[in-house]
Amino acid sequence: MMNIPSVTKYGGVPSLIDHLRRFLQTPPAHLDDACLGGDLPSGCLFRGIQLYQRAILLVDPGSRDRIQRFYRRDDACRTLISRILPRMLLRQRGVPAQAISFASTQAGKPYITTPGIEPIGFNVSHDNALIAMAFAPGRHGPPPFNIGIDVMKVQRPANESFISFVSVLRSQLTNMEFRLLVTSPPDQGLELFFWMWTLKEAYTKALGLGLGFDFARIEYNIHEDVVLVDGKVPKGWHFTKFELSDGDDRYQGVAAEFFGGDRTEIVMAEPNWLVQYSAQYFVQAAIHELV
Ligand SMILES: CC(C)(COP(=O)(O)OP(=O)(O)OC[C@H]1O[C@@H](n2cnc3c(N)ncnc32)[C@H](O)[C@@H]1OP(=O)(O)O)[C@@H](O)C(=O)NCCC(=O)NCCS
Repeated sequence: MMNIPSVTKYGGVPSLIDHLRRFLQTPPAHLDDACLGGDLPSGCLFRGIQLYQRAILLVDPGSRDRIQRFYRRDDACRTLISRILPRMLLRQRGVPAQAISFASTQAGKPYITTPGIEPIGFNVSHDNALIAMAFAPGRHGPPPFNIGIDVMKVQRPANESFISFVSVLRSQLTNMEFRLLVTSPPDQGLELFFWMWTLKEAYTKALGLGLGFDFARIEYNIHEDVVLVDGKVPKGWHFTKFELSDGDDRYQGVAAEFFGGDRTEIVMAEPNWLVQYSAQYFVQAAIHELV
């Protein structure tokens, strides 16, 4: 039994969430309810070919093309929802569906190009049953570059020990990080690892570089709660760590936002920071709102 949530973050634009809440008040559906019947391959996140076919019309032709090329239906559904999430964000700001537009940087980071609205930055991440979006006012720099999010299911590959799992990723970790992980009990080490990894991903996704940035340049010293990039604390960043449970599955994630100024902080998400919906219900609401 799994629900398929999406996550949204607000930073200075709470009315968006209030709007979304009004539309999405139904309790989360579960995967059992959300599974496809009909003639689609298994693995889709929401029920019925009809819902999928209606939802795919909500996105632009380029996204549709990409989504339809996925071999695995669950990859297609995750990407579809990740493309609908920022559309709903804009729709709830009063932008007519036809006016919503996006572009991508050369490195592939999507950003909003809808004219006539205040700049807003967003970023999405998806893993297994979770699709997450973080958004914030585009206060600093071009809107694509100020926010990044990464979320991952807390697990290691089957039949692989924790030590061998982190050893494979050794080159992406600093000496301190690697030492900390291999000297921790495996369960605790796994949790620490996912904080380190999702923070590195979120930071580099906020920069718009993703894996194009050497992860070993970033160090997250969890014990002291300090992030270093090239040995120095990067100025003006806000890192928010969050956790979600989905039945027996646990997810960890980090949102990184460039705020400007000198302070950099790492915080655990406040309860109202995060909103979680079932994908099934979210997609139904999107069809209602975006058509
Ligand atoms: C983008 C990237 C970080 C994705 O990491 P991931 O952990 O596999 O995936 P996540 O689920 O966290 O994020 C995927 C989302 O990130 C966004 N994204 C894509 N490129 C991005 C970038 N350069 N920076 C930030 N976000 C990006 C997209 O919205 C994407 O959603 P989609 O797959 O539904 O389109 C990784 O694929 C990457 O770094 N790619 C290399 C980019 C690059 O160097 N391109 C060179 C082309 S010239």
